[in-house]
Amino acid sequence: MHQANLLFFSLGLLTMTALASTPRDTEALALAKRQQLEFRQGNPAVAKPLVKSLEEAVARSPDNAKLWEALGFAYMSLQGSMYTASPDMAKLLEAGERAQAAFARSLALKSDNPLVRAGHGMSTMVVSQLKGDGPGVMAGIEEMNAAVREAPKYNGVRLTRAFTIIHLPPGMRDNNAVTEDLRFLIDTAPGGRPEDVIHVLLGDVLAETGDLKGARSEYEQVSGASAFAAEQVKERLADLAKGSIRPDSIAAVRSGTGARCVMCHAPGTDN
Ligand code: HEC
Repeated sequence: MHQANLLFFSLGLLTMTALASTPRDTEALALAKRQQLEFRQGNPAVAKPLVKSLEEAVARSPDNAKLWEALGFAYMSLQGSMYTASPDMAKLLEAGERAQAAFARSLALKSDNPLVRAGHGMSTMVVSQLKGDGPGVMAGIEEMNAAVREAPKYNGVRLTRAFTIIHLPPGMRDNNAVTEDLRFLIDTAPGGRPEDVIHVLLGDVLAETGDLKGARSEYEQVSGASAFAAEQVKERLADLAKGSIRPDSIAAVRSGTGARCVMCHAPGTDN
């Protein structure tokens, strides 16, 4: 065969694979998007079918970076649905490791995606924490930092880093990074519930680092679009007078970033 023919032949193959994978993959991604929406609006039971349909999709199209990306986030949602009163640690770890592997696969196919980079960092941090692996935690954080440096104006990247590192103890956490992320989100969030809750999250970080004035200012910006946030603020303003916010109040809001997505993503507003 002539070289030109060879080239033509391989180009033809490339086109064929691209065409062959497109419609079903697109359908799988659209379904995943709908299921993720359902999940975040308060239906954790959708996490399992979400994972299953994407596992089937990557089995059919193992070279589609977008499918692996969606699968990574699906495993993270599945993990989020497992944080109950007494979570099964082995299952949590397994979901985290699967997310990490899916994000790694997506990056291997297409490396220049900051959101997937951040997702890989997030899952690495979570898995390492579950294993008590300190250097792994640091590597995961650094990967999220690199993603933010690369795409500082990308909402999803900021959200991923903020909502992951916020769970670290204040002494171990890069408080400037989490503060910067939350401020960015307040500036770009579409108002309503998410903005209310983010003011509380940011106020809590400021209170933990001794900036009680800054904390008060954040709490006072809660509009009541989220009745939950407004309720939390009432407690906090009383606490502030005593000099600190109770850790259990902080945990009540903060733990929602991993599992109670509906706290921000419920449709409509309360007031
Ligand atoms: C503290 C508030 C808050 C919580 C809790 C929260 N989110 Fe979000 N989320 C936001 C904000 C703000 C945005 C960016 C604006 C937007 O897209 O609505 C966002 C955007 C998203 C997006 C990107 C939307 C897009 O355009 O594709 C996804 C996906 C998402 N959130 C999923 C989740 C999941 C899953 C959870 C639970 C594990 C969760 N969120 C919990 C505030 C929150």
